[in-house]
Amino acid sequence: MVPRETRHFDRSARLYSQNACFNGANTRIIHALLSVAIFRSFVNYYSCKDFALGVQIINYPHPTLRHVSKPLKRVDAELRSIIHKMFELMYEHQGIGLAANQVDLPYRMFVINPQGKPEAAESEQVFINPVLSQPKGRAEAEEGCLSIPNVYGNVVRAEKITVNAYSLEGEEVRAEVDGLLARVIQHETDHLDGRLFVDRLSPTGQMTVHDALAELEIEFQSKRERNELPDDQQIAQRLQELEQLRT
Ligand code: NI
Repeated sequence: MVPRETRHFDRSARLYSQNACFNGANTRIIHALLSVAIFRSFVNYYSCKDFALGVQIINYPHPTLRHVSKPLKRVDAELRSIIHKMFELMYEHQGIGLAANQVDLPYRMFVINPQGKPEAAESEQVFINPVLSQPKGRAEAEEGCLSIPNVYGNVVRAEKITVNAYSLEGEEVRAEVDGLLARVIQHETDHLDGRLFVDRLSPTGQMTVHDALAELEIEFQSKRERNELPDDQQIAQRLQELEQLRT
């Protein structure tokens, strides 16, 4: 999920920190940080599986976004690398949540950080096999989605929700959440059921986003015609193979 306000806030914060790097006499610190970054990318290059490196966000109307994900039965090193990459992609695109099928994977799993920045690592959470229950109240707010770029609309959701899930460490987590956290968790769980926020818009909201969605459909079609995307059958085959591996 990507809220419009967070996008703008994040972008300005990032520009500011980039400028800050070129000011002042912190060159030595920057060099030290760069060496660490180069070392870490070197380690990542040789430890991450090639698969995780290739993980990318897919856009509407890619069929995987309509795939109903199956619960994970195992979490291995490759899946951990993929989750790491999902956080990176989420921050890179100023999002606060990213579901597995948004990176073309058929797994019941999503990552979130309602603060939307890697510096707030304490707010990072991985939800494996989430189950929502006990919805309470109704709240309406604007949402966006990393798989539907530049499209926003108001969505009515439960104000409070109970979520049961497993953490990356395999611990069972149960929490009653509200506010933005409840919204992000509902938005991402929808993804795992093949549902998008645009499906939940009012008839007026649907009309507002109609042209933008039609444009994304044309873009998808032309990519297919240029052979930049696999066909539906190839996509389904790949998802099935990935399911056999871990679900
Ligand atoms: Ni989304």
